[in-house]
Amino acid sequence: MTTSVENAGVSRRDFLYIATGAVGTVGTALALWPFIDQMNPDASVLALASTEFDLAPLEEGQSVTIKWRGKPVFIRHRTKKEIDEAKKTPLADLKDPIARNLNLPEDAKATDENRVKDGNGKVNEKYLVQIGICTHLGCVPLGQAGDYDGWFCPCHGSHYDSAGRIRKGPAPRNLDIPPYKYVSDTQIVIG
Ligand code: FES
Repeated sequence: MTTSVENAGVSRRDFLYIATGAVGTVGTALALWPFIDQMNPDASVLALASTEFDLAPLEEGQSVTIKWRGKPVFIRHRTKKEIDEAKKTPLADLKDPIARNLNLPEDAKATDENRVKDGNGKVNEKYLVQIGICTHLGCVPLGQAGDYDGWFCPCHGSHYDSAGRIRKGPAPRNLDIPPYKYVSDTQIVIG
């Protein structure tokens, strides 16, 4: 199936509203989820193992949340600042040194490059694709919040950086990267 904005019948303007809203407050984020959820098909489709997504409409600094196998997946077109910050962070500063990228070996290091590598080994540092479930107790973190230009989980105060790596708070692990691969320059298949 294709979970592109156009195919879901949502106009580009609506999409931009969604993406912009994703950087908003707690209330905004909670209000947006049901609306974004409407972009997804019914339960029979959700049971499918893979979801295709078109990254092309996602401009720098914008994010969208889609659903894959019933889970929220955060897709962000990172800014240069976010990429630079993530790349220059020493591994020694990370709480969890493992990439947690299902496309890589279990012991792969949590470098920024390993956080944006797909199942074919392609690295596209602009786009971060990760499962939006806090590794502490499973809340959905807020985007572009917290102390590290990344995600913040308000449930118990976990801060993730711009590569989705846990930096502060009770969460023990980096946000998981789902299995995915590029099927063109802008299309990915998750699962
Ligand atoms: S569930 Fe996220 S910090 Fe506890």
